[in-house]
Amino acid sequence: MRRRAHASVLLLPWLVLQTQAGFPNQINIGGLFMRSTVQEHSAFRFAVQLYNTNQNITEKPFHLNYNVDNLESSNSFSVTHAFCSQFSRGVYAIFGFYDRRSMNTLTSFCGALHTSFITPSFPTDTDVQFVLQMRPSLRGALLSLLAHYKWEKFVYLYDTDRGFSILQAIMESAVMNNWQVTARSVGNIVDPLEYRRIIEEMDRRQEKRFLIDCEVERINSILEQVVVSGKNSRGYHYILANLGFSNMSLDKVFSGGANITGFQIISPDSPIVQQFLQRWERLDEREFPESRNTPLKYTSALTHDAILVIAEAFRYLRRQRVDISRRGSAGDCLANPAVPWSQGIDIERALKMVQVQGMTGNIQFDSFGRRLNYTIDVYEMKPGGARKIGYWNEHEKFVYIVEQQVTNESSSVENRTIVVTTIMPLLRYIF
Ligand SMILES: *[C@@H]1O[C@H](CO)[C@@H](O)[C@H](O)[C@H]1NC(C)=O
Ligand SMILES: *[C@@H]1O[C@H](CO)[C@@H](O)[C@H](O)[C@H]1NC(C)=O
Ligand SMILES: *[C@@H]1O[C@H](CO)[C@@H](O)[C@H](O)[C@H]1NC(C)=O
Ligand SMILES: *[C@@H]1O[C@H](CO)[C@@H](O)[C@H](O)[C@H]1NC(C)=O
Ligand SMILES: *[C@@H]1O[C@H](CO)[C@@H](O)[C@H](O)[C@H]1NC(C)=O
Ligand SMILES: *[C@@H]1O[C@H](CO)[C@@H](O)[C@H](O)[C@H]1NC(C)=O
Repeated sequence: MRRRAHASVLLLPWLVLQTQAGFPNQINIGGLFMRSTVQEHSAFRFAVQLYNTNQNITEKPFHLNYNVDNLESSNSFSVTHAFCSQFSRGVYAIFGFYDRRSMNTLTSFCGALHTSFITPSFPTDTDVQFVLQMRPSLRGALLSLLAHYKWEKFVYLYDTDRGFSILQAIMESAVMNNWQVTARSVGNIVDPLEYRRIIEEMDRRQEKRFLIDCEVERINSILEQVVVSGKNSRGYHYILANLGFSNMSLDKVFSGGANITGFQIISPDSPIVQQFLQRWERLDEREFPESRNTPLKYTSALTHDAILVIAEAFRYLRRQRVDISRRGSAGDCLANPAVPWSQGIDIERALKMVQVQGMTGNIQFDSFGRRLNYTIDVYEMKPGGARKIGYWNEHEKFVYIVEQQVTNESSSVENRTIVVTTIMPLLRYIF
């Protein structure tokens, strides 16, 4: 009896080796971060750690390893250097960020060398084959919301560093619907006083409605000037074309009486978000900077979800017994002609086929690597904090949720110290 037990124990390692033949036990992925993505870097390492410490072999059939490069600058020399060092180390896919200056260099390397790039950065304007965009497009939600508010005359402040897709949609709608849109590029502005000058100039033209299409930092900086110049009183309305509504300083703007509307991709009552935050808030800031004491950015949630996508894609490849091992030389990224990696297309297909539930809801992609079948929540500032007023998705478009508040509507508008009973759980973490 004892001898038999002993024998079966000896057999086990052999069985394990059999089922994993052809598929690596370690999947190496690359990480490319920028100076402004400190919290995302922490979320990346934490998400990999969550994956690697999963005891369930079905969910964790291989180990995830990462090589990280921090880009100090986005000039093409640094980007090329970072990409090539990742490629020669034999990564199976790269997670990372780009800005307008590094986007083209990065995406053309990915296309030429068949290396998939998974990113929470703004969507590319053109369709590039090996890029997976974790960040869903705001275009449809924004147009539905403008229709809901019946805006026909407004100021549109945009930053072309985030691409042209929304700018184009707004301009097309303006022409089609005869809107009076004053569009102003604010992408090159470094002096905040310049925002103030624009806001005051618009005010002289009786403009009270602003659509601000920028990254979170720039929106915050514009809103500060809105407050300083007193353009946050009743009658003004600001729509923030950004998925990080809860990461913005809105209290001061709102306390003046202005209306503020924005979007949010993290669903605060999802169990995945709650589970993540429970552990995230206990992390050591020395090891995971900007974790517990900083509000969670939506780009960090997208980073977490990207790891879910990568893990699921490689689990699929393993189940399908696709041999992805990199043979021969690790690869010279500057070889002429470029020698793409033979398994790159299989990996790209597997990534685009993934469907998982993450912190940002349902995650699915189309053949261009853009998010499909997602839901964006719409928020308005109300007395007591941000409140969800509806949601948008491709099928239903904007769905307005009728207020079920027990608070007294007439007095809550007059009296801003009133306590609102149904505050979204998200607020606990954000404000
Ligand atoms: C492991 O994960 C799979 C897939 O999520 C699940 O079906 C299974 O019940 C889990 N096994 C254990 C022992 O928890
Ligand atoms: C601000 O919101 C209130 C309540 O939803 C609405 O009655 C009012 O018309 C809005 N004001 C502007 C300028 O949009
Ligand atoms: C937004 O997030 C960044 C980085 O996590 C943080 O530094 C900043 O204070 C946050 N801003 C607000 C208003 O929550
Ligand atoms: C869209 O996502 C939901 C989950 O949120 C899923 O049940 C449904 O099957 C998806 N639709 C399509 C067409 O894939
Ligand atoms: C709402 O407020 C008004 C005036 O402040 C008051 O007369 C009314 O009774 C209140 N209604 C409720 C349901 O509290
Ligand atoms: C505003 O709220 C405060 C505190 O709840 C209350 O004392 C005050 O009477 C309210 N004012 C009005 C105009 O309702």
